[in-house]
Amino acid sequence: MVALTRIEAKVQEFLKELQSPLVLNLSKNLQSGKMLRSKLALSIAGESEESVRLCAIIEMIQNASLLHDDVIDKATTRRNKPSVNALFGDKNAIMLGDVLYSKAFSELTCFAKDYPQIPRIVANAVTTLAIGEIEDVALSGAFNADEAKYLAMIEHKTAALIEATAYAAAFLAGKDEKDARGFQIYGRNLGVAFQIIDDVLDIIADSKTLGKPALSDFKEGKTTLPYLHLYHTLDKIGQERLCNAFGKELEESEQVWILEHLKKSGAIEKSIEFAKHLGKMGVEAIANQSCDKLTEIMHAMVDRNF
Ligand code: FPP
Ligand code: MG
Repeated sequence: MVALTRIEAKVQEFLKELQSPLVLNLSKNLQSGKMLRSKLALSIAGESEESVRLCAIIEMIQNASLLHDDVIDKATTRRNKPSVNALFGDKNAIMLGDVLYSKAFSELTCFAKDYPQIPRIVANAVTTLAIGEIEDVALSGAFNADEAKYLAMIEHKTAALIEATAYAAAFLAGKDEKDARGFQIYGRNLGVAFQIIDDVLDIIADSKTLGKPALSDFKEGKTTLPYLHLYHTLDKIGQERLCNAFGKELEESEQVWILEHLKKSGAIEKSIEFAKHLGKMGVEAIANQSCDKLTEIMHAMVDRNF
């Protein structure tokens, strides 16, 4: 898609304006990824000078959050390549993240005159995603059996920026507040469903496709939705066994036991069903907008296997 190349070029243009060879050198190691948020914004607002600017801003914020997240998670890889923190250390990764999101914020102010809602929507989303990351860290301390807490955390950490992208793009597309809210709900549901499918893939996709070993989430101390569902189907002894295995490098026998029970308990299907239900509700929220592309995006996301 030509528009995605334009967005990448816009990010480069913003970075060059900073006139810092150090920043340009560090930023060479950033990868674009799937650009899900940009595809979403373009599907809602079409391609224009303004939508390309909005997308570049969102991609910079997304990259900033991942730079910080990799430091927090002590991740050595990102998208199958060495992470910036692994290559240049935590200090550089944190500061590059700060540069990206502060430059994004300064570019965001350009919308203040014609689209006054947009800077507030995007700024609020960044606050929410940072809160979500704090909640994620808090939940990682021990096995979490509370589904509501988990769902609130992913709504903040993952869905907030996707929700804000759809909501902001709707204003660029000239929608009024009522219609824009429909896009906001769609974006939130897409974001939460996206994270749940990611959680499921961490269990069922092979490690080559994922670029990380199977059951990584659980070993790293993340009680994602399938494990939560599994917990509630187990007897006391099973629950204890599951909790004891949490947050550790798993012995072969434990890995096999967990996988077997995840499959036979229906925990995986229940998680996928919930993601599909959210997808359906999201599409319903924009039913009056005749936006087939968004229905397609939702289906492709819920049915993906990578
Ligand atoms: C990935 O989580 C992380 C996020 C979706 C958001 C992280 C947000 C922050 C660090 C807040 C800071 C924000 C800015 C703009 C500086 P994950 O670890 O579950 O996913 P992963 O497997 O992709 O690492
Ligand atoms: Mg991470």
